[in-house]
Amino acid sequence: AHHALTFLYTGVSRPSKGFPRFQSLAFLNDQAVFHYDSESQQAQPLGLWGQVRGMEDWKEESRLQKAREEIFLVTLRDIMDYYQDSKGSHTFQGRFGCEFWSNGSSGAFWSYAYDGEDFIRFNKDIPAWIPLDTAAQETKKKWEAEKVYVQRAKAYLEEECPGILRRYLNYSRAQLDQQ
Ligand SMILES: *[C@@H]1O[C@H](CO)[C@@H](O)[C@H](O)[C@H]1NC(C)=O
Ligand SMILES: *[C@@H]1O[C@H](CO)[C@@H](O)[C@H](O)[C@H]1NC(C)=O
Repeated sequence: AHHALTFLYTGVSRPSKGFPRFQSLAFLNDQAVFHYDSESQQAQPLGLWGQVRGMEDWKEESRLQKAREEIFLVTLRDIMDYYQDSKGSHTFQGRFGCEFWSNGSSGAFWSYAYDGEDFIRFNKDIPAWIPLDTAAQETKKKWEAEKVYVQRAKAYLEEECPGILRRYLNYSRAQLDQQ
């Protein structure tokens, strides 16, 4: 079997009704686990996950998502400044997470897209951010301003994320057993 924990982040420069400036979704395999957006500022479990007790500290998760929202939107603004387009309508998307297979192999991914085009990607083996767009050279400089930043990103993908994935799997199994 294959198991993955995936986070999808979306930011827009021109929010509209029903489409907040920032939103994030977490998935266990293909099942949505929780949602957060800049309007509610609350990480909220989705579907059956709302009935699972103790799996996540939702207050703490809301704080974490709020902090990530700020960095995410600053990056979107930086890219728009780079292209000298402070008023345009643009989207920034992030996708990151980790996975493992029953044969013991594991993997991780972390990438961003600007207006639907590949923007920057993390290579955890170097570790370094790989720019895929001219403006991404600036983002890379900022995200690598201190050596500890890339070490933290690597540790997130290799340690923290698999820990969360194992925790969610454990709770999802317990939930399935109950039904
Ligand atoms: C485990 O399975 C995955 C997916 O089929 C494969 O990509 C990977 O190479 C396998 N790893 C080992 C150690 O066999
Ligand atoms: C696994 O889930 C159960 C509840 O279903 C919980 O009591 C236990 O602490 C969890 N273990 C871990 C390691 O998260």
